[in-house]
Amino acid sequence: MSPSQTSTAPATTTISVDYRQPTVDDGARLWEIASDSKVLDVNSSYSYVLWCHDFSTSSIVAEVDGRAVGFVTGYRRQTDPSTVMVWQVAVDDAYRGHGIAATMLHRLLDRTQRSGVVAMHTTISPDNVASQRLFASVAAARGLNFERRDLFAADSFPDAHEPEDLYLLEPDIREP
Ligand SMILES: CC(C)(COP(=O)(O)OP(=O)(O)OC[C@H]1O[C@@H](n2cnc3c(N)ncnc32)[C@H](O)[C@@H]1OP(=O)(O)O)[C@@H](O)C(=O)NCCC(=O)NCCS
Repeated sequence: MSPSQTSTAPATTTISVDYRQPTVDDGARLWEIASDSKVLDVNSSYSYVLWCHDFSTSSIVAEVDGRAVGFVTGYRRQTDPSTVMVWQVAVDDAYRGHGIAATMLHRLLDRTQRSGVVAMHTTISPDNVASQRLFASVAAARGLNFERRDLFAADSFPDAHEPEDLYLLEPDIREP
């Protein structure tokens, strides 16, 4: 599969997007994209750098003209390595609506499937419709079931925080 994809933006703009595993050098930019999103929980810069070091194989970056414009950070569940759990996904505001987030999730599933991943999970707050639609769209495109379950209630958190619901993108049948 080609490492890059050409997206056609509205009007006459065409953008060429490369998708790749993050490296430690991406950590600072991932922190910046998360911070700029004004939606995500912004974790310490250290956590993004560490993630790019330790969880690179279950994460992905979208790059335009050599600059990261989106990312997915994920990990394989310790209790079930056949599930990739998405921690955060974000696309720079200027590049939204071009299918970049969906493509990152597809590419991540394509890559991790080669080492045994069959399902993707994530948590989403009830007010984040964009994220719910994103994961629903990826599930539908891949023929995966899409299910919501309660996970963390608001009172699980020590600060003012929305609940985080668990969303599961699962095949019909799991091999034993
Ligand atoms: C959510 C986010 C990652 C989507 O990125 P994106 O590259 O614009 O998404 P895509 O273009 O790949 O869209 C994928 C699907 O989601 C839908 N979608 C994307 N943004 C949407 C929005 N604001 N409202 C409704 N649906 C939306 C698209 O219509 C598309 O669905 P379709 O395939 O059925 O047409 C981006 O808006 C973002 O970074 N938001 C801030 C961070 C965030 O909320 N992250 C998720 C929680 S971890």
